[in-house]
Amino acid sequence: MAEGDRERWNAKHEAAWNRSPEPPDDFVLRSLARFPDPHGASALDLACGAGRHALDLARRGYLVEAWDVSPVALELLRKRATAKGLLLATRELDLATGAPLDFRRKPFQLVIAVDFLERALFADFQKLVAPGGHLVFATFTVDRPGDQPSERYCLARGELAAGLPGFETLATREADGRAGLFARRSA
Ligand SMILES: C[S@@+](CC[C@H](N)C(=O)[O-])C[C@H]1O[C@@H](n2cnc3c(N)ncnc32)[C@H](O)[C@@H]1O
Repeated sequence: MAEGDRERWNAKHEAAWNRSPEPPDDFVLRSLARFPDPHGASALDLACGAGRHALDLARRGYLVEAWDVSPVALELLRKRATAKGLLLATRELDLATGAPLDFRRKPFQLVIAVDFLERALFADFQKLVAPGGHLVFATFTVDRPGDQPSERYCLARGELAAGLPGFETLATREADGRAGLFARRSA
């Protein structure tokens, strides 16, 4: 990612510093409802931003790691977690280098990625999610209202309907300019 993009994201997160976190995405909430007792399961929030999902996952009892390129987002997330008495780990990294992730730790039982589209990462999902673990992915499609995010960061119509290699699709949804995929990594 270009340095200017990181600065742009830092500025956006800075502007949100004194705002309340947005509620989690509906498709994510519906998918998580399938796991009533996740206590101690590992979860990764990719491109977590200020952590509306990471915080929700930690509150549910997941052991959460949250990754983002913006140090400001991660600082805000840690501040919010501390205020709520929640524990989670953060990691600053650029997910858009195009190179496969250097991934040396145990894969996660749950990975979520919301409102962040980097198709080169689709191949990494298989390394990030443990066999039998789950992936929840949701973002905008080209049918979003308005022109944000720009089209290259939007899914094509029907793009998630085909699922992802190495995953069994449990649910997909496409409506109102958004699409979601809930899938289980093949064992
Ligand atoms: C629209 S926000 C979504 C944040 C969060 N997933 C949510 O649903 O609230 C996109 C996030 O992606 C992060 N981001 C953008 N480019 C990135 C990159 N190359 N690597 C890692 N994170 C990135 C931004 O800092 C921002 O927090």
